[in-house]
Amino acid sequence: RRPRVWVSQPLFDDTVAQLAAYCDVVATPAVTAHDSAALAEHLAGADGALVTLNERIGAAEIAHAPSLKIVANVGVGYNNLDIPALSAAGIVATNTPDVLTETTADLGFALLMAAARRIVESDRWLREGHWGQWSFTTMLGADLHGSTLGILGMGRIGQAIARRGHHGFGMKVLYHNRSRLPADMEQAVGARYVDFDELLGSVDHLLLVLPYTAQNHHIIDAAALAKMKPTATLVNIARGGIVDELALADALAHGRLASAALDVYENEPDVRPELLALRNIVLTPHVGSASLATRRAMVQVAMDNLLAGLGIGPDAGHPANAVNAGLLADGMAR
Ligand code: GLV
Ligand code: GLV
Repeated sequence: RRPRVWVSQPLFDDTVAQLAAYCDVVATPAVTAHDSAALAEHLAGADGALVTLNERIGAAEIAHAPSLKIVANVGVGYNNLDIPALSAAGIVATNTPDVLTETTADLGFALLMAAARRIVESDRWLREGHWGQWSFTTMLGADLHGSTLGILGMGRIGQAIARRGHHGFGMKVLYHNRSRLPADMEQAVGARYVDFDELLGSVDHLLLVLPYTAQNHHIIDAAALAKMKPTATLVNIARGGIVDELALADALAHGRLASAALDVYENEPDVRPELLALRNIVLTPHVGSASLATRRAMVQVAMDNLLAGLGIGPDAGHPANAVNAGLLADGMAR
């Protein structure tokens, strides 16, 4: 029989339509919040699923899905998937790295500039009719050029941000990461490794670009914020759970941190009122990879992974971006 594929959200219809040549596709026509029971029901009859970060899939959701072989995430972060549970069931999980690296780095820089130079705040002030009160000291911000940029998490996106800072803005770039980059890579991106506390204390701007794991939960908490310069900017384009949002709101409200920008939140799509009330924070709705070209490319990569996981096409049996690739190597995949 033809494999059955469930597509969890509307993506790009013309791209997803390619699946119909090989599979019976059950698409989701409108944006939907699938709860655990709905996910279990949709996955029950599926051989493969194309999902987004809004679908949280673990043991309960796959318990009645005996033929499910692959869950292809449209996104690079996959903390929405319980990888040990999927691996234990022999289900391959894939993500979409690389295609979104430069686009996401662009957003990181856009948010940094917006927060440091108070772009959104200035726009609002102008629209609110305050220009008549303009003075020489209106909307004073912080420089990027010649400043020290800190990057926490030095994967592909972190490196792309380092290159922008070093080569484009003449910034001194410091980073901290679980593992240190080889010297030639450090040199290529123009970044120097420092320990976590030194990073916090010495940078003018800090970008968070690390994957969310239990160990990284609230790694930026009140104590970490207290180590940062009160003139500093904090930007989070990774995952909300990395930052203690209440501690951040408190630091911003009381002048212990100059400005911040968030693209990700602890409890999306809900944004805390304590953050919404602040003027010195820029808030975007998880749009890091949201350029038209990149979002299209992500869907294509996820589909290629999905088809390969279903044993179809040039990479049959070997999806390029398996995050639990050990399953395949050990012959333990379904
Ligand atoms: C988006 O946050 C992604 O992980 O791709
Ligand atoms: C994501 O691709 C990262 O490694 O930062």
